[in-house]
Amino acid sequence: MVSNTPAVRPVNPRFSSGPCAKPPTFTLDSLSDAALGRSHRAAIGKAKLKDVIERTRAILGVPADYRIGIVPASDTGAVEMAMWNLLGARPVEMLAWESFGAGWVTDAVKQLKLDAKVTTADYGEIVDLASVDWNADVVFTWNGTTSGVRVPDSFEIPADREGLTICDATSAAFAQNLPWDRLDVVTYSWQKVLGGEAAHGMIILSPRAVERLESYTPAWPLPKIFRLTKGGKLIEGIFAGETINTPSMLAVEDYLKALDWAESVGGLTGLIARADANAKVLHDFCAEREWIANLAIDPATWSNTSVCLKFTDDRITDGAAFAKAVAKRLEAEGVALDIGAYRDAPAGLRIWCGATVETSDIEALCPWLDWAFEAEIAAQKAAA
Ligand SMILES: Cc1ncc(COP(=O)(O)O)c(C=O)c1O
Repeated sequence: MVSNTPAVRPVNPRFSSGPCAKPPTFTLDSLSDAALGRSHRAAIGKAKLKDVIERTRAILGVPADYRIGIVPASDTGAVEMAMWNLLGARPVEMLAWESFGAGWVTDAVKQLKLDAKVTTADYGEIVDLASVDWNADVVFTWNGTTSGVRVPDSFEIPADREGLTICDATSAAFAQNLPWDRLDVVTYSWQKVLGGEAAHGMIILSPRAVERLESYTPAWPLPKIFRLTKGGKLIEGIFAGETINTPSMLAVEDYLKALDWAESVGGLTGLIARADANAKVLHDFCAEREWIANLAIDPATWSNTSVCLKFTDDRITDGAAFAKAVAKRLEAEGVALDIGAYRDAPAGLRIWCGATVETSDIEALCPWLDWAFEAEIAAQKAAA
C-alpha cells in the first residue's frame, strides 16, 4: 500500500473512450418505454425512429435541408457507407493523424483501390489542413479518438470547395462545434459523447452529398446494407426513420433518453461546456506537473473528449510497461476503468472527458493519477 492514498474516489470510475459512460441519470428502468417486441415499422416504432432524427437535428443544429439517417454498424458502418457510395467520382484526399483515420485510408487505397492522395501526421500532430486540396473529396476524422488531436475551431474549410467533405465526427458530435455548411457527410455513433449503445450509426448528408448520390454510380457493387439510392434517386424513407434493416428498439430508447438528458443540461452548448470543463481539469493537471503531458502538441488541437496523456519522466525505463502498470493499478483500485492508451497509439493514458462524465469525477481522479505515478516509480526502483 502506498502511504498517500487519496481519500476521495470518483463516484463513477468509467472513463472509457467508447462505449462511454452513460448519462449520470441513466438507469435500466428508464428504458421501460422501449417498443420491445414490436415491429420497427409499426406506428410506435416509426414514431420513435423519427423522433431520433428530429431531436438529433434540433440538438446538433443540423440545417433543415440536410438528411439524417440511422444506419447499421455504428460509426464504422456510416463512414464506410459514405465512402462506398460517394467516392470515385473525383480525386480523393485522405487525411489521417491516428488509427481510425488510418483505417479509412486502408479502405480507400486497399479496398476501393482508389488512387487517393494520402496525407498523414504522427500521433500528437495534425496534417497541414491549409494545404489540403478541398476541390478533391476529402475524408478525415474531426476528433482523433486515439491521439486526442482535433481539428482546431479556427480552421475554415473553404465554402467554395468543389469536393465533398466526408467527416468521421464520432468523438466530436455533441462535444464540439461542427461547421455544418462546410461538411457534406458527418457520421457518429450513439456510443460516444451521449453514452448511448453501439450498434447504430448516424449519417448526415448535405444537399451536395445527395446530389452526388443521385448523379453518380460507383464502379463497385454495393451490398444492400450500404444502398442509399434506388433507380438513381435517394431512398428518402431512410431519412425519415425507415431503416435499411431492423434496428434495436432498446438502443433507440436508450438514445432517446440520452437526448432527454442532453436537453436537460442545456443542449449542445451545455454538452460542450461539460466536455470543456472536464478536459480543462486534465490540462491544468498536466501544466502543474513535469512528468505528464498532453500527447497532442498544439493546444489548438487539444481534444475535449478523448484526452490522451504521455509520461515524460526521465526515470521511466520502459514507457509502455509503465503506462500499462499505472492504468492497471488505477483499475485495480476501482478508480479508473479502461484508461490505457489505444492499442495502436503511443504508450500513455486516455481519459474520456465527454459530456456524460462528471467534472467532479475527473477532479477526484487527479490525486489518484499522482498516487499511481509515484507508486509505479517506486515499484520500478524496487525492481531495479
Ligand atoms: C474516430 C473513430 N472512428 C470510428 C470509430 C469506430 O466506431 P464504432 O465502433 O462505433 O463503429 C471510433 C471508435 O472509437 C472512433 O473513435
